[in-house]
Amino acid sequence: MSNQNVKLKISNMKKVYKNGDGVDNINIDVFEGEFLTMLGPSGCGKSTILRTLGGFLDIDGGDIEIDGQSVKDLPPEQRPTAMVFQSYNLWPHMTVFDNLAFGLKIRKVPKDVIKEEITKALKLVCMEGFDRKYPGQLSGGQQQRVAIARALLLKPSVLLLDEPFSALDAKIRSQMREELKKIQEDLNITVVFVTHDQTEAMALSHRIVVMNKGKVEQIGTPTEIYDTPATKYVASFIGEMNFFENGDGTTTAVRPEDIVVEKDGEGGDIEGHIRTIMILGHYVEVNIQVGDNVVKTYLSRSVADILKIKDKVSLSFHKKCVYSA
Ligand SMILES: Nc1ncnc2c1ncn2[C@@H]1O[C@H](COP(=O)(O)OP(=O)(O)O)[C@@H](O)[C@H]1O
Ligand SMILES: [Mg+2]
Repeated sequence: MSNQNVKLKISNMKKVYKNGDGVDNINIDVFEGEFLTMLGPSGCGKSTILRTLGGFLDIDGGDIEIDGQSVKDLPPEQRPTAMVFQSYNLWPHMTVFDNLAFGLKIRKVPKDVIKEEITKALKLVCMEGFDRKYPGQLSGGQQQRVAIARALLLKPSVLLLDEPFSALDAKIRSQMREELKKIQEDLNITVVFVTHDQTEAMALSHRIVVMNKGKVEQIGTPTEIYDTPATKYVASFIGEMNFFENGDGTTTAVRPEDIVVEKDGEGGDIEGHIRTIMILGHYVEVNIQVGDNVVKTYLSRSVADILKIKDKVSLSFHKKCVYSA
């Protein structure tokens, strides 16, 4: 991120559908050059927010400003935004070139400039030479690359992406992620990205907005969200977490990698017996029976090597979060 200028400001925004679903009290500042991700389970309101930003949904309260100007009453084509959807939304009867040229022709961009810009955009998304193909001749990943190129050609102030990679298989998805991250950094473009996939959010974002049932639970960097989840909900949604009820209404949360396991040890936080040992490559998942609970730990190979099923161990919490009721 290059600076702390607010590019997009969402204040007290409210959008409620007739059936009562929707989002309320949304306050988010997105900085220039920032990659911001809205993360949450299906139905929490991510697409609703993104559509209000793009102008595809009117809002019921609050405001949306881009570069200090309210855009809430502008139709999509008059907003300095461009949107990429999960379904690529390319016109099947048009070549890649014509799909890309469409928006520029409407803006009366000269023909030679259009050609030049399209060549550059296709290069950016690693699709050089595909201009004469039809969408039906391309894979899902290639179609989404074209859809991203089409959005970038509009030179939006803010690029909006709604689960753009969720229809792609895992390998292509992670490759596209990496490419999008590179494009975002090279162009220093402001991005609002939507996903329900926490790994994707962690990998791509400068900051993450964790959402739950139409409300914002926490806004923070991936490290802040992972290391100090603000609520029990965030703690359970992001990464793996062990929860311990303390009996006084409070809950202690500990990550599997923050537990130190000692064979025959004493004086730890709790004691238990080894239940399973699973070698997952460079680390080992060791599950420990503690009373009625199973506690998950991630240990290094050298530590796990000396442990056996049924061994008595003590567990010390290297780091923990405590949540009140
Ligand atoms: N057009 C609509 N009419 C009524 N309810 C809707 C409409 N679109 C979405 N919803 C509801 O609003 C909530 C948020 O939906 P959405 O923003 O699509 O969530 P997400 O993108 O996080 O999955 C859900 O409960 C959904 O069922
Ligand atoms: Mg959605």
